[in-house]
Amino acid sequence: MAETSTSGTTPTANIGVVGLAVMGSNLARNLASREGNTVAIFNRSHDKTEHLVAEHPEANFVPASSYEEFAASLQKPRAAIIMVKAGAGTDAVINALVDAFEPGDIIVDGGNALFTDTIRREKAVRETGINFVGAGISGGEEGALLGPSIMPGGSDESWVTLGPILKSIAAVAEGEPCVTHIGHDGAGHFVKMVHNGIEYADMQLIAEAYDLIRRGTGKSPAEIADVFAEWNKGELESYLIEITAEVLRQVDAATGAPLVDVIVDQAGAKGTGAWTVQTALTLGVPVSGIAEAVFARSLSSHPEQRSVSRGLPGPEADAQGGWTVDDPDAFIEKIRLALYASKIVAYSQGFDEIRAGAAEYGWTIDLGAVSKIWRGGCIIRAQFLNRIAEAYDQTPDLPVLLSAPYFVEALQRAQHAWRDVVATSARVGIPAPAFSSSLAYYDGLRADRLPAALVQGQRDFFGAHTYKRIDKPGTFHTLWSGDRTEVEAEDTH
Ligand SMILES: NC(=O)c1ccc[n+]([C@@H]2O[C@H](COP(=O)([O-])OP(=O)(O)OC[C@H]3O[C@@H](n4cnc5c(N)ncnc54)[C@H](OP(=O)(O)O)[C@@H]3O)[C@@H](O)[C@H]2O)c1
Repeated sequence: MAETSTSGTTPTANIGVVGLAVMGSNLARNLASREGNTVAIFNRSHDKTEHLVAEHPEANFVPASSYEEFAASLQKPRAAIIMVKAGAGTDAVINALVDAFEPGDIIVDGGNALFTDTIRREKAVRETGINFVGAGISGGEEGALLGPSIMPGGSDESWVTLGPILKSIAAVAEGEPCVTHIGHDGAGHFVKMVHNGIEYADMQLIAEAYDLIRRGTGKSPAEIADVFAEWNKGELESYLIEITAEVLRQVDAATGAPLVDVIVDQAGAKGTGAWTVQTALTLGVPVSGIAEAVFARSLSSHPEQRSVSRGLPGPEADAQGGWTVDDPDAFIEKIRLALYASKIVAYSQGFDEIRAGAAEYGWTIDLGAVSKIWRGGCIIRAQFLNRIAEAYDQTPDLPVLLSAPYFVEALQRAQHAWRDVVATSARVGIPAPAFSSSLAYYDGLRADRLPAALVQGQRDFFGAHTYKRIDKPGTFHTLWSGDRTEVEAEDTH
């Protein structure tokens, strides 16, 4: 029997949502549509709450006009998902909920928080006895309504209550819900951040493929849409390839031109790609494909620099009015292979960052499970994630994803085309930063010897930073400004 609270409100809801802008209201409707859920809702400006209740009577929402009323309408242990503007808004709502909730209750932040903020918030909220869960939610507004991919962190105790609720609303891929308990405190938001970083790389690679095809073959955007639609039937099958075909096919109603030709070529960003790269720099993980994707957006968004640079010298093809390939079909196939190989690198780098983050922050993250929950609901959903799951099933502690047998075979198949595409882009002066940096990363990993040995020599020369030798243990320094003999030294690596 439901108990009655001191405020007189009967606690009938098993889950609550705070923040009813597009993401929160869709998530609340998704929750309400699943059997067994009764959803309490609250928004700072009450008109949004009233509007949602009026628009969706079928959801049987339990609206609240104050945090106290919201808390009183929730069964214990209370569980509430915050979907508000990340940052100060999140902190304000957490503080209000901490005042209204009791030990054992659960506060979930479903916004795009920086994982270090989540670690800080989890620690602070835990001291009150209330559980705090940072959950990455991917899939945009449609995902929130129909089934997102959900990446929750937080305690094992919270997962017991939250797990069944989140499973009920998550996307389903091949019969499995796209949600798993990622790890403690900030682990969920960390994985969501890397998901977004991979998304940046994937999008940039697709954009480079489109640019090379268009300029090399002279095909129209609609014709290139057909190429992407065809690619979507094979190993590249993914949401991003699918929507690329849709965007390229779109005609602008006002001008009759392809929409892609009337959109200003300056890409925006909300910051999660930059977070992925900043974190990778701190962890010492080379996510070069993701970084190039972030930088490519930055470069595009400096019109004044681009304007003064337009006259800089370029290759001869420019002067001759452009460049075309002799065999368009063969060229397109090479680009498909280069795209697949570069995409393998982007995911490999992203998983490497998750592995390093887990080691740094003490999380136990099942990388195969992460790849599985990205198969549905989220922006980077792709058939190829099954191959990643298989690779980690076979070798859970794989040091680098692209060394798994399936990817070695794919890279073997693709590498000549990949090299050709990168060489061509450099020769004809078409920027392909994500393609080229991915190839350089691949060749760097493969190398028997790297010129890092010379860098160590230089560091020892100007800063006595010492070096190791390949033929004996110990740490050494050459007396560069003396007689240049070698001495044993303290390791100052
Ligand atoms: N949009 C997407 O595709 C997407 C995808 C994944 C994740 N996310 C994340 O999901 C969260 C919600 O996104 P959104 O686009 O739906 O909304 P939003 O525009 O980011 O935020 C608007 C909501 O935040 C509330 N809010 C802001 N400051 C507040 C404060 N100090 N106290 C209480 N409430 C406050 C607003 O309440 P009022 O109505 O009172 O102003 C409103 O409900 C964000 O963290 C976003 O990063 C968004």
